[in-house]
Amino acid sequence: MSKDTVLLSTEQHGIAARLLAEGGVVVFATETVYGLGANAYDDAACRAIFAAKGRPVDNPCIVHILDEARLDDVIVGADEITRALFSVFSPGPLTVVGEKHAAIAPAATGDLDTVAVRIPAHPSARSILRAAGVPIAAPSANRSGKPSPTTFRAAVEAMCGRVDAIIDGGACSVGLESTVVTTESGCVRILRPGAITAEMIRERLGVRVEFANGGESRVSPGTRHPHYRPDARVLAVERAEIEPTIARTRGEMRTQPDRDAGIGIILLGDELPESTETRTIVFPTVEAMAAGLYESLLEFDRRGCGVVIVEMPPPYGLGTAVRDRLNRAAGRE
Ligand code: TXA
Ligand code: MG
Repeated sequence: MSKDTVLLSTEQHGIAARLLAEGGVVVFATETVYGLGANAYDDAACRAIFAAKGRPVDNPCIVHILDEARLDDVIVGADEITRALFSVFSPGPLTVVGEKHAAIAPAATGDLDTVAVRIPAHPSARSILRAAGVPIAAPSANRSGKPSPTTFRAAVEAMCGRVDAIIDGGACSVGLESTVVTTESGCVRILRPGAITAEMIRERLGVRVEFANGGESRVSPGTRHPHYRPDARVLAVERAEIEPTIARTRGEMRTQPDRDAGIGIILLGDELPESTETRTIVFPTVEAMAAGLYESLLEFDRRGCGVVIVEMPPPYGLGTAVRDRLNRAAGRE
């Protein structure tokens, strides 16, 4: 596939909106990751998303809207919990699944009768939604299986030549894809953890929150496919395992001289006590780690690292979402 891709600056959202109205596919920033958007009412345009991504057609897209007033244009009969979730957490990194409105193109949802809906907070996404005046179907703008782009540079690397335009929205502040939930009989089920955490939903709404696991792949079709994997092999381990893992990996690499010798290390909180000759990125907080994780993985790929060793954050709050992505990047799920 080779298309002429226009690179747009932040203020050129009018051009992006016009391309969308003409059935084009446009990459734009959201606060989570860059999205690969098309008019959600236009079936042919939505099919073009899947071609650009190399995405299996059974993996439905998220439909983005400007505000809660437009919820009934995309979801039929949204329940009380859905409305409460949007009123408390939107605009922001939360996606809620509901019954699909007939006007949404079948290709946008992989022919499902449900639709996943999000109200993004990023000014670039909001300007495009406002100017386009239609809901925008948009998966993350990575090639299928790879980490999502969270910078303009990574979006261009992933999608130049495959889409009509890419608009610069700077670096994404959250850095991980939105929390995806369903609501059923008074309970919220998290299909994909994100920056709106189980703890936050429990606290603000006072409802039961559970994680879909085991059966997860059946409810959230996208979780069936490999995800978030850079070219390098990812070893995601607890803090105590970092140094033994580095030592073991160095040993393995010595016996494979043809292999690129680079080891990348991503840590949370503290530097290692001993300095190492490997490349290390240290994030001070789990929020910073979430924001910089995909770009760090992509940067180690650019530098030709063969292995990236990453420290897993503790398993609560935003740490749950980071661990989920790392487990997938490491091929464990
Ligand atoms: O932060 C985000 O959510 C980004 C930005 C661009 O908004 N988008 C994103 O889209 O991550 P994508 O397509 O990469 O991930 C969408 C997730 C997938 O796991 C998919 O299976 C799930 O949402 N999903 C979409 N529609 C669904 C549905 N009807 N029922 C259950 N899960 C659904
Ligand atoms: Mg994705």
